[in-house]
Formats: sequence, C-alpha cells, structure tokens
Amino acid sequence: MHDNASGRKEKRSISRRKFVAVTLGSGAALLAGKPDIIAGANAATPSNMATNPTFNLGGDLSVHRLGFGAMRVTGQGIWGWPADRQNALKVLRRAVELGVNLIDTADAYGPDTSELLIAEALYPYPKGLVIATKGGLTRPGPGQWVPNCRPDHLKQALDGSLKRLRLDQIDLYQLHTVDSKVPIEESVGALKQMQDAGKIRHIGLSNVDRGEIDRARKIVSIASVQNRYNIEDRASEDVLVYCEKEKLGFLPWFPIGGSRGLKPENPLNTAAKAHGVSVFQVALAWLLERSPVMLPIPGTSSLAHLEENVAASKLKLMPEEWKAIDALKG
Ligand SMILES: NC(=O)c1ccc[n+]([C@@H]2O[C@H](COP(=O)([O-])OP(=O)(O)OC[C@H]3O[C@@H](n4cnc5c(N)ncnc54)[C@H](OP(=O)(O)O)[C@@H]3O)[C@@H](O)[C@H]2O)c1
Repeated sequence: MHDNASGRKEKRSISRRKFVAVTLGSGAALLAGKPDIIAGANAATPSNMATNPTFNLGGDLSVHRLGFGAMRVTGQGIWGWPADRQNALKVLRRAVELGVNLIDTADAYGPDTSELLIAEALYPYPKGLVIATKGGLTRPGPGQWVPNCRPDHLKQALDGSLKRLRLDQIDLYQLHTVDSKVPIEESVGALKQMQDAGKIRHIGLSNVDRGEIDRARKIVSIASVQNRYNIEDRASEDVLVYCEKEKLGFLPWFPIGGSRGLKPENPLNTAAKAHGVSVFQVALAWLLERSPVMLPIPGTSSLAHLEENVAASKLKLMPEEWKAIDALKG
C-alpha cells in the first residue's frame, strides 16, 4: 500500500531514469503511428491480449488507448486553481506532444478550472484531439460531489462546458453519474436532445451498472462507459466484459489506484523490477493488454509521472507476468 509518499518516491526512482529516454522515443513513434517497440520490453503477447494501440471511439474517432485524466491539474481536493498554474499548462501540452489524443475532464473538476486550463493550454486544438467531458455532478464545496442529472441542469452544464472549452460540439459528453432522484432515461433523453441539436458528437456514461447501460441504450446510442477499475478493484468486470462485447470504449478511472496508489503486490513488483519500470507503469500495461476497448486515463499533475505513464503504453508484459498480475484480483 502506498499510504506513505516516501515509499512511492522510492519505488519510482529506478524507473524514472530509464523511462525518460524511452518516453521521448516512444512518444515520437506514437505520433508517427509506428508499431510498439520498446527497449527492454518483451514484444511477445498471446493472441488474446490486446495489442492494438488505438480504438475507434463511437466508431469514428480514432484515439490512442492511453489517454490523460485532467482531474489532477486542478487545486488541492479537486478544487480551484492549481498551486502552479504554469506547470498544469505544461502537463497538458506535454501530454499532447507525447501523442495523447484523448483527454478526460468534467465541469465538476475545479469546478470549471480543468476545462478552462485545457482550453488555455491547447486551444486552437490540434486535429484529432478528443476532449471528453462530463456533466451531472455539482460541487457545493471542496470534497463535495452532489449529483444533479435533471435535464435542465445537464443542458446548462453542457453549454458551460462548450463555452469554457471554446467548442461548438463536444466529441464525447459523459453523464457523470446516475442521480437517484432522476430516471436515467430522462437524463440521457436530455443529452440526446443536445446531440440532435449538434452540441454533442457521442454520448458516454459513467458510474453505471449493466442494467443502467441497457436502459440508456434504449434511448440513445452510447459510445463509452467510465467506471472505477484497476488491478485491485474489478467490481466493474461485468461492465467491462459487456463493453468489449458491444465494442463500447471502457475508460477505467483510478487506473493506478487514485491518490491511495496500488499495493506493490509481488507479481506487480516482480514485473516492475524485470522491466526496470514502476508498478504504476506495469498496472497501466496490464490494463491496456486486458482488453482492446480499455482506454485508461491516468491523472497526474507531474510532468515526470506523465512521461512515465505515456511510456507504459509501449511496455509489453510477458504472458506469465500478465497472468500472475491478473490472478491478484481485487
Ligand atoms: N468518472 C468518475 O467518477 C471519475 C472519478 C475519478 C476520476 N475520474 C477520471 O479518471 C482520471 C484518473 O483518475 P485519478 O486521477 O483519480 O486516479 P489515478 O490516475 O489512478 O491516480 C492518480 C494519482 O496517482 C498519482 N500518479 C500518477 N501517475 C503516477 C506515477 N507514474 N507514479 C506515481 N504516482 C502517480 C497522481 O499524483 P501526481 O499528481 O503526484 O502524479 C495522483 O495522485 C481522473 O483524472 C479523471 O479524469 C473519473
């Protein structure tokens, strides 16, 4: 368990040196659309392990499967502006330079500040950059997250996101949660109206179960689902399997365990040592190999962590390493 920050730092120290060099090379390869090659990583993967580096979101938006979560570029407690605003802008720009073209955000992050920083850092947006935002959670104060998925609120929230992101249309607009006071049919019905009005390209869901996805899909086409999922927490396994079968993108949040981190369980640590990388990089590689619809969106406020995370998309685990980690189960 990484409750203690110094433990985390220690585990990262070996990998940082090795991976900075790798990141630059692999970032260039990503941009050039070159096949996965990484020094020191084993390229052998069994046929049932996902190897495609891209996914077609909604069938028409090609994204590199390793994305970026922009929740962590806000202030402490996902509230307000970050202490170092210039650094946050650098992180966002560097993500795109490294080949990331899927950025996840929400009106609730800050609130507003994550979307504002994305626009400040990246507008006018490079061709092919997909910004996925969300609505349906309000922030009365730091640490507070209150659902409001009423149609009127969602319409207002969407207009706010369009303005802050300086867009006419959101590529992927996700219902952030299901509001127990509002049937999901009403919430996604409002999003469908906004899609029909041209303000949304694709609709996604977040924090949903199988039944809720089925109900939403009776109202409108759904392109993706974003649920909590990582090596230690696979409560949404059934949703992932469903997404794979139906070819919906699956965006695991807390892909590396959130701010609590991941326990360096033996198979994770063994693979990390064997490849000279961190357990977080192994965790991301494991996710990417888990399913071709898996679109991890690790969040960070650190340039060094960003580089490490992007480099993990080039890491190939040996089949036996992958299986040993898979057997950890959350
Ligand atoms: N739909 C939802 O309800 C929901 C909920 C939560 C999050 N999300 C989305 O999912 C994204 C990912 O979730 P998350 O950011 O909470 O969790 P995460 O990506 O699992 O973990 C982020 C945490 O790990 C640290 N970290 C990142 N890279 C690291 C590395 N290479 N080595 C060591 N530590 C590292 C970060 O700290 P540093 O800043 O120090 O790197 C941060 O504390 C969010 O950014 C957001 O877009 C969605």
